[in-house]
Amino acid sequence: VNQPMKSTPRLFVAGSANVDLTFRVTAMPRPGVTEVCPYALGFGGKGANQAVQAARLGADVSFLGKVGDDLFGPAIVDALKREGINIEHVRTASGALTGTAVILVERSGQNSIVTHGGPNVTMTRADVRGAERAILAADAVLVTLEVPGKPLTEILRIARRGGIRTILNPAPPVDFPHALLKLVDLCLPNESELAALTGMRVRTLADVKRAAESLRKLAPRQIIVTRGDRGALVLDDQGCASIPGQSVEAVDTSGAGDSFSAAVAVALAEGRDLRAAAHWANQVAAISVTRSGTQSSFPRRGDL
Ligand code: RIB
Repeated sequence: VNQPMKSTPRLFVAGSANVDLTFRVTAMPRPGVTEVCPYALGFGGKGANQAVQAARLGADVSFLGKVGDDLFGPAIVDALKREGINIEHVRTASGALTGTAVILVERSGQNSIVTHGGPNVTMTRADVRGAERAILAADAVLVTLEVPGKPLTEILRIARRGGIRTILNPAPPVDFPHALLKLVDLCLPNESELAALTGMRVRTLADVKRAAESLRKLAPRQIIVTRGDRGALVLDDQGCASIPGQSVEAVDTSGAGDSFSAAVAVALAEGRDLRAAAHWANQVAAISVTRSGTQSSFPRRGDL
């Protein structure tokens, strides 16, 4: 599992950077209910999470994101820097409140998230163009959907032109220009994101296969559907493979999809094939669900 790297993989990650306010509730609150419960403040945002997880797995990471000039923005930038991430392309929006997520985690480890996008949703094509060199220097780019479709499309276009592998984790399940799927080599949805993308029912393994095949017709040649503790389904030119789940005691599943996506990107950039990458990413994400929080739960290479 903990194989030595061939060479240091280089990733360009673009996406949201948030502060995560995590509350451990006994059950999701109903209207009118107040609960006093344990709380933690941490760093999150799907983009920053993926950048941090990839860096902890040994990748050389450049991150494109936006924070506010409030209390949290500089703290996020410092934290990214401490992880060894290139923050040259992290912008600070003046007068803006940094992206924030309120995360409620139930005893089962399942979560519900409410977010304020803040500066994340003001990323522009000009921001992307400023990072063109970093995109073209990467082995792969990894993006999510908490930033707008236009800059995302621009990132994928630049990467495509440069022959750089493009990876989309279509999270959260929001509307986005589906034309950008044509610029994606590998799509990494979970089951609800797959259902949102295809408009199909996704409950059984047979449903997952059918919907993944239908998503593949929209363009990405490679697909990995994450299925939580049931593992993952891989679909590519070589056919379909099921990756078994890991049996662990889930404490907090928030950020597990980010941990998985980053690990897949690192593994592919190191030269592993898609099935081996999915298998390894499953082990990485399984560790993250045994710990609290998002970035605070992500393992380092030495923990594997
Ligand atoms: O995927 C988990 C992340 O989603 C959290 O860190 C939160 O900030 C939201 O962006």
